Parts: sequence; structure tokens; C-alpha cells
Amino acid sequence: MPVSEFRELFDAVAAIGHRDRGWTRPPWSAPLREAEQVVADAAARAGLAAAHDAAGNLWLTDPAARDGLVAAGSHLDTVPDGGAFDGALGVVAALVAVTQLREARVDGSERLAVVSFADEEGWRFGTPIFGSRVLTGGYDRDVLERRDADGVRLGDASPSDPFAARGGHRRLASFVEVHVEQGRALTPAGVPLGIATSLAARSRFAFRCDGAANHAGTTPMAERRDALVAAARFVLAADTAARAEEGAVATVGTLEVEPGGSNVVPGRATGTLDVRAPDPARRDAVVAAIRTACPEASLERLANDDGVQFDARIRTALHEAAGAVAIDLASYAGHDAGVLQAAGVPAGMLFVRSPDGVSHDPAEHADEADCLAAIEVLQDTLRACLATFPPNAG
Ligand code: CO
Repeated sequence: MPVSEFRELFDAVAAIGHRDRGWTRPPWSAPLREAEQVVADAAARAGLAAAHDAAGNLWLTDPAARDGLVAAGSHLDTVPDGGAFDGALGVVAALVAVTQLREARVDGSERLAVVSFADEEGWRFGTPIFGSRVLTGGYDRDVLERRDADGVRLGDASPSDPFAARGGHRRLASFVEVHVEQGRALTPAGVPLGIATSLAARSRFAFRCDGAANHAGTTPMAERRDALVAAARFVLAADTAARAEEGAVATVGTLEVEPGGSNVVPGRATGTLDVRAPDPARRDAVVAAIRTACPEASLERLANDDGVQFDARIRTALHEAAGAVAIDLASYAGHDAGVLQAAGVPAGMLFVRSPDGVSHDPAEHADEADCLAAIEVLQDTLRACLATFPPNAG
């Protein structure tokens, strides 16, 4: 693996949008376009043509290729003051791997492609994983009316008709995303790479505990119906239930108490509950255990996502390529690869060790040697995908 090719392209992308604290390449912004241009120029040197689809996704493809694309990629946008690796690593790794396979004239290499998805982070307009979700039929037209903090309308910042790109994912026969690890599981395991098994199933609820507000001095303990005491039981029940289910996490992230006086017994407590687990069954088991332990709380489901299991053939190919340097890893965040897999595109993800487990922060890091190891695994996996997924399967 020539170190220079990776380092040069990664550094060239990392030079864009780098301010004093971190990296800021908002969706639909000049710094993002600049980063895309750097990648498109490098792709052109490898004989790949660059084109945006109507949703703003950047496709780097062989001019002769039509569909059945065996693709890799990620995103070039960042959160505000984010890190250099989240997203950019996956695009750079993809382009380096594809370039080398093309130079090696691997059979079918004209089907190899790189995709950099639009507005993956979603913070500016509240539209996470925008590009891949638009392709696969997510979001409705009214999303274009959303405005950012400066009052700019999404429909004025993005291409005028993103939905013209719907169905574009059918050009893909398969998709693999390299991504910096989010969390810290690989370092303790002593391996540089993680192979995604699934994206976690998630649910978000509003919960409410009702009691009776009354005087804090004159209401004896035996006669109290304290809503906050019930909410405290709820928080503890969530903690206990998640710890009992392997791979599950539960978080009460907000809590409000009414009427909220130091000398008033709380009459109502409301808050949010976020539950995630490797699969819907374990998530639902956690929620059921919380309900059983705390029947006095009422739950209203605000959001539900059953997550996705990644393609078994791609997982096998990743494992065969990585050997002993990778372990299985469930992911608890959203990713374009997950959206594609859920829409029927065989997909997989390869995580690169983050020594401190930091992400969405300038301290986010992966060692160069680990990134290069990921690129080698990606190359072998793309070769396997060319053999496994025929051109007409997209
Ligand atoms: Co990312």
C-alpha cells in the first residue's frame, strides 16, 4: 500500500474547512464543494468522471459504467467543529482502493465507483442521512421548507429538486463504507478494524408520571403521590433493564418537574427515553421490562427505527480479507450504508480503530497504519463484491 497516495489525498481534504478549533464543512456550503472538487480532481486522474445527482450526492464512476456499480464511499460534510476523519476517511479510502484496483486492471473494474453522500450529518436542517434517504424514498417534499439557524430554506440551499434523484440507489450492486470508529471497543480488543454486524434498533419515547401536587410540609409521607419519586423509579428501571440486555443502552436525557417549587410535592414529571439495542427484539425487551417495573409511567413513542442487519456476503468478504485484525461490531449511529442496506442494496461497513473513542470533535483520530489496513481490506472486499454481485443486480 503506497502510503503517499492515501496521505496526500486525506491531507488535501483535511486542509479544507479547518478553522481554529475543528473542521466545519456544512452541507450545501463552499467548503464542502471545495472538498468535493479535491476528490473529483483525484478521481479524474484515475479516469473516473465526477457528477452530482439531483440530491447532491457526488458519484465518481467510470465513463463507460451504467449500473451494477460496486461502490464504496461515505460523506465529506462534517458537524460544526467536527473531526477530520468522520466521513472524509471513508471517501478517501474508497477512492484510493478503487484507483489501485483500476490500475491493477482487475476484471470488471469499470463497475467500481465512489459515492460521497450529501448532508449525512443533518445538523443544519435537521435532515440526517439526507442524500441516501432521498435516493431510497425517504423524506417528503415538505422537508425542503425547513430552515437553518440563519433562516435559509433547505430548498434554496440544496439542488432545486432533490427528489428527481429517487431510485438512484438502484445503480448500486453493492456498497461498502469505511468509517472511523465511534466509541471505544477496538482498542481494548487489540484490533485495528471492526466489521459492522448491524445498525442498532432505536426508539425514542416521551414519558410522563402523574402525581398530586401538594404542600411539602403538611402532606404526610403516607398520603403523598409524588410524581418525581415515580420518575426516579422510571430512570432506575431504564438503567436496570438496559444493563440486563446484552448490547442495549437506555437513556433518560431530559426531565421536567411541575409545578417546580421547592416547597411543593411534584405533581407531574415528564421526560424522554432513548433505547437502542443490536436488534428490535432486544430493544423491545428493554422497553417491556421498563413498563413492567414502572407501570405508573405512561409512554408515548416519538420515533422508531428497527435498524438493519448488514449483508452476510459482504460481512464474510470483509472477515476473509481482514482475518484476525478485525472483530464484529454493532453500530449505534445512523449511516448511509445502513439506509442503502435497508432499501435492498447489499451493504457493509468497516470501522477503523479510534484510540480515544472520540467522534464529532477535533480530537477524533485514527492511526495512519490502521487506515491503510482498512484500505487493503476494502480492496479485497471490492474484488469479492465484483465476483459476488453481477452487473444486473443493482
Ligand atoms: Co459519518
